Amino acid sequence: MMVLPTHNSFHHCCQILLALLLFSLQILLTHIEAYSSKVEVLPGFEWPLPFQLETGYVGLGETDDDMQVFYYFVKSENNPKKDPLMLWLTGGPGCSSFSGLVHEIGPFEFEIKEYDGSLPSLVSRPQSWTKLCSIIFVDLPLGTGFSYAKNLTANRSDWKLVHHTHQFLRKWLIDHTEFLSNEFYIGADSYSGIPVPVIVQEISNGNEEGIKPSINLQGYLLGNPVTTRTEKNFQIPYAHGMGLISDELYESLQKNCKGEYIDVDSKNDYCLRDLQSFDESLSRVYVYNILDRFCEDDSLLRRRSLIQELKKSSSSRLTVPELSCETYSFYLTTKWANDERVHKALHIREGTIGKWERCYKNDFEYEIFDSFEFHANLSKKGYRSLIYSGDHDMVVPFMSTQAWIRALNYSIVDDWRPWFVNGQVGGYTRTYSNRMTFATVKGSGHMAPEYTPEQCFAMFTKWISNLPL
Ligand SMILES: *[C@@H]1O[C@H](CO)[C@@H](O)[C@H](O)[C@H]1NC(C)=O
Ligand SMILES: *[C@@H]1O[C@H](CO)[C@@H](O)[C@H](O)[C@H]1NC(C)=O
Ligand SMILES: *[C@@H]1O[C@H](CO)[C@@H](O)[C@H](O)[C@H]1NC(C)=O
Ligand SMILES: *[C@@H]1O[C@H](CO)[C@@H](O)[C@H](O)[C@H]1NC(C)=O
Repeated sequence: MMVLPTHNSFHHCCQILLALLLFSLQILLTHIEAYSSKVEVLPGFEWPLPFQLETGYVGLGETDDDMQVFYYFVKSENNPKKDPLMLWLTGGPGCSSFSGLVHEIGPFEFEIKEYDGSLPSLVSRPQSWTKLCSIIFVDLPLGTGFSYAKNLTANRSDWKLVHHTHQFLRKWLIDHTEFLSNEFYIGADSYSGIPVPVIVQEISNGNEEGIKPSINLQGYLLGNPVTTRTEKNFQIPYAHGMGLISDELYESLQKNCKGEYIDVDSKNDYCLRDLQSFDESLSRVYVYNILDRFCEDDSLLRRRSLIQELKKSSSSRLTVPELSCETYSFYLTTKWANDERVHKALHIREGTIGKWERCYKNDFEYEIFDSFEFHANLSKKGYRSLIYSGDHDMVVPFMSTQAWIRALNYSIVDDWRPWFVNGQVGGYTRTYSNRMTFATVKGSGHMAPEYTPEQCFAMFTKWISNLPL
C-alpha cells in the first residue's frame, strides 16, 4: 500500500497531465472545427491581391458535417492590430454576405460589362470599409452562400440565426485570438435589422455571464433596417411626399384605410380600391431606389407583405437583366460564384452545396417580429449605434426608421443638421443621448453603400472614428 502523500502527488501529477491532454485535445478539436486559409489568387482580379483575404469554415455542430458556416475575412488595409473588427451580415434573410462584400463595402466589385461566357472581371473599390477596419463577412443563416448543414430545415429561423451568429463569432475568435482585444462592431442592412439587435444583446449577455472568449463589443450599425415590420404603413406617406401619388389619392387612402395599409379588412372596399390605385401608380418604380431604372425582373411593390417583398426581390432568376439594371451585377455574381476556378481559389469544399445562389430563401421560419425592444435594451447598456437610411428607398423608408427611433424617447444631443462630403450635403443627421446616431444618405437607396459609395464611406469613416458626422 502506498503512503498517502505519494499517492496524493501522483494523483496531482495525473490531474495536470490529464488537464494538459484535454487542453491539447481542445486545441486539436478547435482546429478540426475551424478551418481557414489565405486566398492567394482571386479569379478575375489583379495579382497579387492588394489586401489580405482569408476564407474558411467554422463548424457549429457535434460532428464535422453537421453545420458549417462559411466566411470571408478581409484584414484592415490600415492597421489590423489596432483597427476595429466588424462582422457583416447581409439581409434577406438568406442573402450571402458576399453581396455585402462585392456590392457594398468590400475591397473589390464586378466590372459591369456584358457577360460573354468568360469569367466576370473584378476591379478595386476605392471606398472599401476595409481601409478602416477588418471585416468578417459571414454566410448565415445556414444554407446561405457557401454555408451548409446536414439538415437545413431544422436550422433556419430567426432565433437559430441569432444563436449561430453568436457561436460562430466566439469560435472564430478562438481561432483568431490576435483580434480579441480589437474593438468589435456588427454591421448589417435590410432584413438583418431584425436579428442584429438580438445578436448584439446575446453577445452582451454572454460577456456578462462570463462566456469565453470575452468580446470587446462596442456597438452596431444598420442600414435601412427592417425593425417593426410596420414599414409598409410609411410607404404611402413616403410616396406622397416624393410626388409619386396625387394629393387626392393620399387623402382618400388616409380617410379610407385610417393609416393601416398592412392588415386591411377585406370588406373595406374603399381602402382596397385606393390601394389598387396606389399600386398602379408605383408599378413601374424601382422601390429599392426610386431614382434608379425600373427593371422587369425585380420587385414590384404589390399588396404583399414586406417579407414577401424582400423574398421576391432577392431571388436569383435565370433571366438575364438589362446591362443598365442594378440586377445585372447580381447576375455576374452568380456566374462568378459558380465557377470551378473560383471555388478552388476560395477553398470551397467540393460537393457541399449545389448551385450558389445570391439569396437562398427556402424554409426560413420568422420568429422575431419586432426588434424595437432590443434597441431599447441596448440603448440602456450604452452601446454606440449608427442607423442610416438611404433616403430614396421606399422599402424601408427613412420615415419608418425615424418613427421607432423617436419612440425610444432619448433626448437629442446633436440636432438635425446636414453632414458633408467634400463640401456637399451627404445627408442629414441627428444624435441622441443613448449614443445612437441617425443619418440619412441623400439620394441613396435600400443598400446605400452600393448606390452612394463616397457618401457612405465618409459617413462610416467619421462614425467608426468616434467623430460627429
Ligand atoms: C441542425 O441540424 C442538425 C442535423 O444536421 C441537428 O442535429 C441540429 O440540432 C440542428 N440545429 C439546430 C440549432 O436546430
Ligand atoms: C430535419 O429536421 C426536421 C425538423 O427538426 C425533421 O422533421 C426532419 O426529420 C429532419 N430530417 C432529417 C433528414 O434528419
Ligand atoms: C430587455 O432587458 C430586460 C432586462 O434584462 C429583459 O428582461 C428583457 O427580456 C429584454 N428584452 C428583450 C426583448 O430581450
Ligand atoms: C416613450 O414615451 C411614451 C410617452 O410617454 C411612452 O408611452 C413609451 O412607453 C415610451 N417608450 C419607451 C421605450 O420608454
